[in-house]
Amino acid sequence: MAMPQTIEAYRHPFTTGTEVKRMLINGEWVRAASGKTFESRNPATGDLLAMVAEGDKEDIDRAVAAARRAFEGSWSKFKPFERQALLLKIAEIVEKNYDELSMLDTVDMGAPVARTRGTKQRVLGMLRWYAGMATSIHGETIENSLPGEIFSYTLKEPIGVVGAIIPWNGPLGACIWKIGPALATGCTVVLKPAEEAPLTPLRLGELLMDAGVPPGVVNIVPGYGETAGAALAEHPGVDKVAFTGSHLTGQSIVRASAFNLKRVSLELGGKSPDIVFADADLDTAVPGAGMAVFANSGQICSAGTRLFVERKVYDEFVGRVADFGKSLKVGNGLDPDTQIGPLVSEQQYERVTGYLSTGRQEGARPVTGGAALTEGVYAKGYFVPPTVFADVNDNMRIAQEEIFGPVISAIPFTDVEEVITRGNATSFGLGSGVWTRDVSKAHRLAKGLRAGSVWINCYQAMDPAVPFGGYKMSGYGRESGIQQMEEYLNVKAVWIKTA
Ligand code: NAI
Ligand code: MG
Repeated sequence: MAMPQTIEAYRHPFTTGTEVKRMLINGEWVRAASGKTFESRNPATGDLLAMVAEGDKEDIDRAVAAARRAFEGSWSKFKPFERQALLLKIAEIVEKNYDELSMLDTVDMGAPVARTRGTKQRVLGMLRWYAGMATSIHGETIENSLPGEIFSYTLKEPIGVVGAIIPWNGPLGACIWKIGPALATGCTVVLKPAEEAPLTPLRLGELLMDAGVPPGVVNIVPGYGETAGAALAEHPGVDKVAFTGSHLTGQSIVRASAFNLKRVSLELGGKSPDIVFADADLDTAVPGAGMAVFANSGQICSAGTRLFVERKVYDEFVGRVADFGKSLKVGNGLDPDTQIGPLVSEQQYERVTGYLSTGRQEGARPVTGGAALTEGVYAKGYFVPPTVFADVNDNMRIAQEEIFGPVISAIPFTDVEEVITRGNATSFGLGSGVWTRDVSKAHRLAKGLRAGSVWINCYQAMDPAVPFGGYKMSGYGRESGIQQMEEYLNVKAVWIKTA
């Protein structure tokens, strides 16, 4: 599908307003057992995009049963080569339909097309990397010390039915990040999209069927977290839950998993420190530290929201990041010039604007932004401009709590040991950034920061081969990398007495 010439010209067959988008269970597109539906709206305009089948426990039950049958049935006969070929076919079809998928992400959750299209190579790269992994799974032969002749080796086996619960902040990428490793290892999936952005996952479901994914191998059940999501998390027929979202929901998923002790991986939020030394190349650090928070309107789990700046350059640097923020074009994500789209929902808008008031009440000083945009083209959407708060101290709520909006809390520091301690003084540990030209400082921080990723002179670099995940309350388990594959596999030890 070509880019629309104007925003108004964009009418996707998937966004027909009142026609009900159905859920995917066992290769068929079905209504919710309850007959219920919910609305999906464009957060830039408030327009109704579609009505979506609202799944709950009964639908999850059906989907899990289908996933179990597929796991035990024909899917288990697929050879690694065949799973690889299927993933490569999916990559080809996703590539062909990429513009359409990225525009669906844009209208459903707000991110600018510049961003949703910009992730193309990453998403395709993930699919092709998982395709490679499908033929790279292997156990080991392990020498043992038992008397006599007894031989031991391990088998790696798919864990089974995976419940994938994803957020709304990058729907397409989030689907691939969970479906890819499942297909590579031979698992089956029941995916629950976020209620804020179910359309791309459903359209992807159609493409998966076109690619030849067998019935029941991937099921997609949209619905609310408290109903469909909770039913999936506690389901006795689910072997693993792969979750991305808030730490509060992560905690309820862990509790729900206790019943059958299913495996859980959690990719949760953060309050990541981004640390700028006076010796850094400030010309790259300014946009780098800015986009570490403003990208996707701050709705990124690893956003570098606590900006620690060495005191010598604090005023200058904070001023420059503020100017950078001010220069970004905020608007409807379908406009190719837009750099910052709306927040995803009224709930996020209330949350983020609430923190803007909190910051001011706590005595922080907004250098740029600080209030929602409500006039003219912004009137019907959830627009918050890039915001930089100066004069922030470590104990303020805006320095401790995840805001999930385009809001930087800028904090001065003096030396290396101090900033390591203060950078780690959070209950989270997902991302972290360091900007310096001094290689020994860079290494000290890389070792000292308690976070799953440390980005030095860059931010949010990602690759399918490199593990991503959290320390502390940012969760456990890793996505991407060999480490992610292991989360979808069981290890079986086999012993053979040969004498
Ligand atoms: P959330 O964690 O409630 O939602 C994420 C997913 O979990 C959605 O699919 C939702 O339907 C599902 N869910 C919700 N409650 C559930 C339950 N009890 N059992 C099973 N599944 C459940 O996040 P929400 O409400 O969208 O955003 C709230 C805050 O969470 C944000 O402001 C942000 O701080 C954080 N967040 C972090 C994300 C990340 O990438 N780590 C993504 C989205 C939100
Ligand atoms: Mg929620």
